[in-house]
Amino acid sequence: MFESVEPAPPDPILGLTEAFKEDPSPGKINLGTGIYADDTGKTPTLECIKAAEKVVSETATSGGGYLPMTGLAEYNRDVVALLFGEESEIPASGRALAAKTPGGTGGLRVAADFIARIKPGARIWMSDPTWANHNGIFTAAGLELATYPYYNHETKALNFDEMVATLKEVPAGDVVLFHACCHNPSGMDPNAEQWNQLADLAAERGFLPLFDFAYQGFGTGIEEDAFGLRAFAEKGMELLVASSFSKNFGLYNQRTGAMTVVTRTAEAATVAMSHVKLAIRVNYSNPPAHGARLVAAVLADSDLRRVWEQDVATMRNRINGVRQQFVETMATKTDKADFSFVATQCGMFSFSGLNKEQVLELREKHSIYIVGSGRISIAGITSANLDPLCSAIAAVL
Ligand code: LMR
Repeated sequence: MFESVEPAPPDPILGLTEAFKEDPSPGKINLGTGIYADDTGKTPTLECIKAAEKVVSETATSGGGYLPMTGLAEYNRDVVALLFGEESEIPASGRALAAKTPGGTGGLRVAADFIARIKPGARIWMSDPTWANHNGIFTAAGLELATYPYYNHETKALNFDEMVATLKEVPAGDVVLFHACCHNPSGMDPNAEQWNQLADLAAERGFLPLFDFAYQGFGTGIEEDAFGLRAFAEKGMELLVASSFSKNFGLYNQRTGAMTVVTRTAEAATVAMSHVKLAIRVNYSNPPAHGARLVAAVLADSDLRRVWEQDVATMRNRINGVRQQFVETMATKTDKADFSFVATQCGMFSFSGLNKEQVLELREKHSIYIVGSGRISIAGITSANLDPLCSAIAAVL
């Protein structure tokens, strides 16, 4: 049965790490996958997590039975509070319920399966461009795919008018995927006024917003980055959120995410959750506990929470500093292109504008690995690799 099977193509993001590992070049640079590294090139364990590990090792046991299908209740309450804010009426209302999922990807797949259960063959609209894995996740769940304009490659800015024009045509009952902040890969987000406009549009058209929220705290701040989805939620409308603590708690390999359903009433949320549970049951039955315990331990302690906020600010500030250094260094290397737009983008990535041939040349001639769309993981640039990176980019222009 397996002899005649053709090999599958490598994953456009994680496949780069596999290729990078096999590259014997001593000067190789991996800026493919979005993983935060400090200036020494290491992905640190956050200070808040080091402290939480101690708390968890003293209080939790790896014995006991399975967790519920939706995971740890305390963690799920924390997720809802972080998404909507402590002051919001939503956490207490019971109309938002979260289920812990294996990472944000798990959250997206559970959301997709949930949508497919309640509306078989539903259509989902995604931004052009979007995260390389969205397509595969929604296809695997049997949804129909569509795209809306988002980014203008010429002006390096949001294509807001065209985006709105397309979303105005989206029928009620379709799903529209938004990146809550730090749009991946473009690094361009709607501003507050634009988010309000999009929320009005969703309310008017009746489409279901699904937010992918993987970078809370990496844009402007933990609260500020939730502005977009809160603008929708405050209108009392239904929405879904797939969120992740991979980046903002540095819990990449603990697969710590969530899928949150927001309905109009607490009763409707409980009914929705009954379907979410079944989607989870047939996927992975129930989630692992450790990452959720760590997050819950941090958020339960006001001192540890402050440490976490500082940890997130440290990562955000380093990335913004590197953005600036990248722009300045590129300016010293070439006058063929102006990279100042990189400083206006936010989040982990620089959407560099490099084309497929240039990306390939970077890889083949300079052993520099970036995503085919030209997306560079800024969070992986260090004092040691900034200069060779910029020289190589200048050479391929
Ligand atoms: C990325 O876009 O690099 C990250 O979200 C990691 C991943 O799973 O692709």
